[in-house]
Amino acid sequence: MPIDPKQSAVLYTQAKIFLSDMDDDTRFHMGATRRDARLQAIEREIEEKGTYTHTEAELKFGVQWAWRNSNRCIGRHMWRTLKVRDCRHIEDREGVLQALHEHVTSAWQGGAIHSVISVFPPRQPGEPGRPDPVRIANHQLLRYAGFEQEDGQVVGDPHSTEFTARMLQQGWAPQQRGAYTPLPWSIWIHDKETEPEDHFAAHPELFPEIKITHPDYPGIDALGLRWYAIPVISEMALVIGGITYPCAPFNGWYMGTEIANRNFCDAGRYNLVKPVAIAMGLDTSSDRTLWKDQALTAINQAVLHSFDAAKVRIGDHHELGAQFERFCEIEADAGRRLNGDWSWLTPPLSGSISPQFHREFNNAVESHTNFFYQRSPQEDVAARQSTASEEGAVRSEDPFHLEHQHETPRCPYGFDRISKVLPLKRRKPRRVGGHN
Ligand code: ARG
Repeated sequence: MPIDPKQSAVLYTQAKIFLSDMDDDTRFHMGATRRDARLQAIEREIEEKGTYTHTEAELKFGVQWAWRNSNRCIGRHMWRTLKVRDCRHIEDREGVLQALHEHVTSAWQGGAIHSVISVFPPRQPGEPGRPDPVRIANHQLLRYAGFEQEDGQVVGDPHSTEFTARMLQQGWAPQQRGAYTPLPWSIWIHDKETEPEDHFAAHPELFPEIKITHPDYPGIDALGLRWYAIPVISEMALVIGGITYPCAPFNGWYMGTEIANRNFCDAGRYNLVKPVAIAMGLDTSSDRTLWKDQALTAINQAVLHSFDAAKVRIGDHHELGAQFERFCEIEADAGRRLNGDWSWLTPPLSGSISPQFHREFNNAVESHTNFFYQRSPQEDVAARQSTASEEGAVRSEDPFHLEHQHETPRCPYGFDRISKVLPLKRRKPRRVGGHN
């Protein structure tokens, strides 16, 4: 594949901005001489190979900087604690399985959850037709299935119905089909979908769950709710200094509202506002009694109480809101830009008493180093193999989608072969089951 000079120039610029950000961090400070030498080496490598390879330090800083630049995350004051597992050499299913097993183990820590990211091989820039070495199709490594019934009802998490159907079609034979059935992993190697791996069936200890109880409402305990302990986002692309890593699962720990408000109470998810209210014995005949608000508060109490009782790390929106506010102040005092997305940073419970509510945020996307949504592996492979016309190709409307930051969705910087054959259907922008 000939190397496109225009594309190389863009990549070099991204690398340069990244290196300058890294140099500004006292932990990674290198000084002008070393930085210039490194930049020259990067320039030569790009000229020769169309890409460059991150050093261990660059990878370490890069994943942390990508987290810090994630506008929608309220927990990123912790960005310097993210531990990287370097999996750039792994390109086979067995290796990926072992790496994911180790990822979850090192994140769990008996409940004292640590923030961890595993970085699999990067994509070669300028080669849109080249398969990605490794992709994971799962939204998160730990997640509940959603079994769609003939009448359209869903048993489990409605967020997972499409993925669940695909796993069943690919041969997954679940031991049960309940409201809380762990999904198998879907690992793609060089564009080939490998068989669903029901890893948690053999290793249930890797899928720690918390039974949800309320200190005052036994009716809530009787609902039999539960949630898993570790949120590991596995579908997003990581970009560092212009290099795309299409497989880089990462985790932090939960904030209570993510589970209580969104996963349990969104209408398109477990939809539990009414069942919780009834379990509490509330009068639901008029909205104006604010029974919904009471139920939401109670289910939030239950989630925090249950995680605390199980000694599993979880944040609450007051604590995290205050910490994020402090982070904003520190960064402003130091003259460092901090972007944010108001609608995500303001918690879904008691919005106006969180400091985020009263701030304005610049929602510009730092594109050289960040996390991005991307097409699923199956869409990606289909697009690459398709010869369909440009007609009907629609870009994602989400500004945090990889394709908006780069010339094409698959291939950063300059290639548009793929974007011309995108067989994407128009999707409504949705926040239901949002990714963060
Ligand atoms: N909101 C997602 C969920 O409820 C998890 C996103 C990541 N959250 C986190 N605290 N790191 O599963």
